[in-house]
Amino acid sequence: MRILVFGKNGQVGSALMALLGEQHEVRGLDQEDMDLVQSSQIESTIRDYQPDWVINASAYTAVDRAETEVELADAINHLAPAAMAKTCAALNCGFLHYSTDYVFDGSAERPYLESDEPNPQSVYGSTKLAGEQAVMAECPNTIILRTAWVYAEQGANFVNTMLRLADERDELGVVSDQFGSPTLAYDLARVSVSVIESTQIENLANVAGIYHATGSGMTSWFGFAREIFSLADKSVKLNAINTEDYPTPAPRPHYSVLSNEKLQRVFGVALPAWQESLAKTLKK
Ligand SMILES: NC(=O)c1ccc[n+]([C@@H]2O[C@H](COP(=O)([O-])OP(=O)(O)OC[C@H]3O[C@@H](n4cnc5c(N)ncnc54)[C@H](OP(=O)(O)O)[C@@H]3O)[C@@H](O)[C@H]2O)c1
Repeated sequence: MRILVFGKNGQVGSALMALLGEQHEVRGLDQEDMDLVQSSQIESTIRDYQPDWVINASAYTAVDRAETEVELADAINHLAPAAMAKTCAALNCGFLHYSTDYVFDGSAERPYLESDEPNPQSVYGSTKLAGEQAVMAECPNTIILRTAWVYAEQGANFVNTMLRLADERDELGVVSDQFGSPTLAYDLARVSVSVIESTQIENLANVAGIYHATGSGMTSWFGFAREIFSLADKSVKLNAINTEDYPTPAPRPHYSVLSNEKLQRVFGVALPAWQESLAKTLKK
């Protein structure tokens, strides 16, 4: 298949590039190739490549900065994917897009289902929800994978931040009253590849829609940090703190565990337990 990947250097994008390159003809784009804020180039870029699938792994992911860069976040998370989806509909190719647990307000007491009502509490969450709604409206061949708590070997993520702080400090406070599912970018990319490889374009409309795709199991940021330090053999003293003790410009959902049952039922795939993937990553 011919596949066009937006955001080829991101955590998920680079894992996708590595995996897709083994079996498919792939072209990846980064911000230098095309700034997504100039969405007028999106259509011609997709048309020129004539892909079977477009995968959008790009996003404005600076959650706190988005509170003051609303227009920029909206351009990248909403308007650009909408333009991609519109072109995919015109070319009748597949469109795989990623979204986030931040579309929910975090007040649930059981894992969120795809059918649960979104209620974003931040600019990032609102722009990602606007993106979801726009791509679904523009293109019937769209699959959206909502994910959460993404990390990779490289990149600005919680795992790398914790490892750095462990070398700088003797003691660390980490939030223990927010719950979610750590997701290794490589696992998400692998599931994404399975989804597109198992879906014929003719049948895409039957399976199109939103799917939750996160590492299996759940923990708190405190539990995640404890596992990182244990696996990496770091002896930093870890203190559990509350959300109120660590104020951020953008509010975080208290609970953002996503049920992956639909992904398993429809595509027969699941991501490994988060502890297993973390252990493999830190062993490297
Ligand atoms: N990270 C998480 O914890 C998390 C959680 C839930 C959902 N998600 C979603 O998962 C998907 C992948 O996230 P990720 O963690 O892999 O993101 P990431 O590492 O932050 O990568 C985002 C990519 O988007 C590109 N990008 C940003 N602005 C751009 C612009 N103006 N023009 C062109 N490209 C631009 C970046 O390119 P440059 O590097 O060149 O700037 C980068 O390659 C996103 O849809 C995200 O919303 C992520």
